[in-house]
Amino acid sequence: MPDTIRIEDIARHAGEEVTIKGWLFNRTDKGRLQFLQVRDGTGFVQCVVFKKEVSAEVFAEARALTQESSLIMTGTVREDSRAPGIPGGYELGVTGMRVLQQAEEHPIQPKEHGVEFLMDHRHLWLRSQRQWAILRVRATVIRAIRDWFDTHGFVNMDTPILTPAACEGTTTLFETDYFGEPAYLAQSGQLYNEADIYAFGRVYCFGPTFRAEKSKTRRHLTEFWMVEPEVAFCDLDQLMEIEEQFVSYIVQTCLRDRAHELDLLERDTSYLEKVTPPFPRISYDEAVGVVAEIREQTEDEDLRQLLAMEWGDDFGSPHETELTKRFEKPVLVYGYPTRAKAFYMEPWPDRPEVSKSVDLLAPEGYGEIIGGSERISDYDLLIQRLREWGLPREAFEWYLDLRRYGSVPHSGFGLGVERTVSWICGLDHLRETIPFPRMLKRVYP
Ligand code: 4AD
Ligand code: MG
Repeated sequence: MPDTIRIEDIARHAGEEVTIKGWLFNRTDKGRLQFLQVRDGTGFVQCVVFKKEVSAEVFAEARALTQESSLIMTGTVREDSRAPGIPGGYELGVTGMRVLQQAEEHPIQPKEHGVEFLMDHRHLWLRSQRQWAILRVRATVIRAIRDWFDTHGFVNMDTPILTPAACEGTTTLFETDYFGEPAYLAQSGQLYNEADIYAFGRVYCFGPTFRAEKSKTRRHLTEFWMVEPEVAFCDLDQLMEIEEQFVSYIVQTCLRDRAHELDLLERDTSYLEKVTPPFPRISYDEAVGVVAEIREQTEDEDLRQLLAMEWGDDFGSPHETELTKRFEKPVLVYGYPTRAKAFYMEPWPDRPEVSKSVDLLAPEGYGEIIGGSERISDYDLLIQRLREWGLPREAFEWYLDLRRYGSVPHSGFGLGVERTVSWICGLDHLRETIPFPRMLKRVYP
């Protein structure tokens, strides 16, 4: 049997006889010609079975093949600019075939299905072209994240998933029974990273994160992946610079390495191409003004209702969506009200009602993909905040220690992988951005 190749490398094998191992994706029957669309995980290629060029047995088998049957094909790679597929431009003139398993009737057909049906068959839905493209972009986003931190002096630290206390508010904790004591699934690795910087300077953790979000929105999962860098001797301005460099690198890497996938998703990449530093920065105060202006100008009564807010409230999805439509690039909104954010945020000098926090909002209506801040470095202030937020001091003794032994100004942020993928791919829901999404009403399959 000729050497097995990956479809993504097909251009390197023009004119050669090769083997492809994969699955039947789609087919067209033209009598003496069978056009079989085959995928192997790396790409899609059209395999042409011509009656005169194969044995009668192979031809009959090719004609009877069902969608998702597994097979081994041999044939000659032919260049043809019209040939469909990814990367496309090449087809396989089949000389032989072995069917490994003739698939039963596949529940997911090339026709349209409802979302709930597809979600119930997520384990099979993953095979479709669109899901393949999205999850390849996801893998590239993850690689770019690691690349950027690994080449900018950050040390990867794995923070625990079973934790004794809340980081991002007590209302979204998943409780587990830890040998008779409560323990919670991590909402964030941040507090541990704050310990890690005193040993390593710049660190990042990257892993699954859990929020018992009761909200059924398209921007929330109960299990999502977050990367969280934390940097010693770093203030809010320096943090914003890191964010814009980092996010630009992720987007540009996807544009370079996942052009076929973005094309398949029919993503208009013109906005993505503009994602280069610097990003516009506006204060929360200014952003509230912009939202008020949009409210005054709109004729849409529902939108006017949705955008109602007072100084002191955090922005919700509608506010972020409208706000980002005003900018062509991601926008950094800094200086949120202290009471709208988490307990650990450093206050603004001489304005304690404002925190040194920053959210990065993605354009085209996508909204928050990063939340971050400078952290409180003063021991007494931190104790005061724990009290104000009603958090148990015992659980935070170790965290208070960090303000006792060589405390320094420091900052960090968290970027949500799924929201980033959703924006880069131009999707309207997070459920397709992770292989097996976990949501309020879904833990199956
Ligand atoms: O803004 P968040 O809650 O910030 C933190 O957890 C900080 N401790 C991070 C830090 O400073 N180290 O979450 C950060 C990001 C959000 O901007 C969003 O992209 C994502 O995590 N995120 C979610 N993604 C999907 N589903 C959810 N329920 C999410 N909650 C947050
Ligand atoms: Mg946030």
